[in-house]
Amino acid sequence: MKLNVVNVLIPIIAIVFIFALWVLFAGQSPIIQPISYNHKVHIEEAGLECIDCHKYAESMTRASIPNIDLCEDCHGDEPISKSPEEKKLIEFIEQKQNIPWKQIYSVPDHVYFSHRRHVVIGELNCSNCHGNVSELTAPAQYPFLIPSMGNCIDCHKQLKITNDCLACHF
Ligand code: HEC
Ligand code: HEC
Ligand code: HEC
Ligand code: HEC
Ligand code: HEC
Repeated sequence: MKLNVVNVLIPIIAIVFIFALWVLFAGQSPIIQPISYNHKVHIEEAGLECIDCHKYAESMTRASIPNIDLCEDCHGDEPISKSPEEKKLIEFIEQKQNIPWKQIYSVPDHVYFSHRRHVVIGELNCSNCHGNVSELTAPAQYPFLIPSMGNCIDCHKQLKITNDCLACHF
């Protein structure tokens, strides 16, 4: 009996196709934060700047995400708003439990990325990679610019920055 090539190939192609789709979309389900944090209100009403909370964005590789030790400066035992999200925050603070923020932007360990290098030496704005964060009234669910190798390389090409493998990889 002769094997029918088409009948064998179709399921193989289908499996490869589904696998490719899975690889493409796996990392793209929306990220939901434990508290619906509002950037806009803290910049416009509390008068804070990015660097007040993301303390290392100009001096280190990691910008860092603030937690209850910073929040409790203004959100103590007495709520200052009617927001149910602030209630959740106060519960975290009372239990001395850190808020388990999920990180939206991240690169794997084998990649070297420095905020200081890009923000101070490269003179880029946060918005080049993170979009207009000061207008966000709820946490971003997807990255503005996905920190993929292709996106790093595209910008480096445009600005004539090195794309030597060893600049980004140890
Ligand atoms: C009052 C403190 C505060 C200020 C001011 C602040 N942020 Fe944030 N930021 C947070 C908190 C809390 C989170 C985590 C929740 C979220 O994703 O919204 C966060 C998350 C982020 C993230 C997502 C990080 C990740 O990978 O999950 C980016 C990017 C960011 N902030 C950029 C900025 C920029 C740019 C500014 C200035 C325009 C700014 N932030 C001002 C507190 C602050
Ligand atoms: C410098 C003071 C200050 C700090 C520090 C601060 N906040 Fe606030 N926060 C405010 C002010 C002011 C408001 C607006 C209150 C109002 O509605 O009038 C606010 C409102 C909120 C609300 C309700 C917002 C809404 O959706 O309307 C949440 C939730 C909140 N803050 C979370 C946080 C978290 C989380 C942190 C720490 C990462 C933090 N805040 C740090 C001053 C601060
Ligand atoms: C050239 C693009 C670029 C610029 C400009 C940039 N970031 Fe980032 N940001 C990234 C990448 C890539 C990551 C993931 C880094 C990692 O995993 O180490 C990140 C991560 C973050 C995080 C998550 C926590 C952390 O430290 O990893 C915060 C918060 C953040 N950036 C804030 C800022 C702020 C505030 C500015 C402006 C002062 C800024 N970023 C400018 C690309 C950028
Ligand atoms: C929006 C444009 C932009 C994006 C996106 C970007 N970069 Fe850069 N990058 C720059 C600029 C501008 C400099 C130059 C800073 C300087 O003069 O040293 C730089 C410099 C660097 C350097 C130092 C290069 C050297 O000369 O040794 C490394 C490493 C680097 N970037 C890694 C990354 C990685 C990893 C990503 C992606 C996660 C990334 N960059 C995304 C603009 C960008
Ligand atoms: C400007 C920065 C940059 C340069 C230059 C760069 N890479 Fe990457 N590379 C990245 C980032 C960021 C990732 C992680 C991408 C992700 O997680 O989606 C990555 C991932 C990889 C991976 C792992 C792929 C995977 O699926 O995780 C390999 C292999 C790799 N790079 C090889 C190279 C080689 C070879 C070169 C030189 C020809 C190079 N890279 C140049 C930023 C860079």
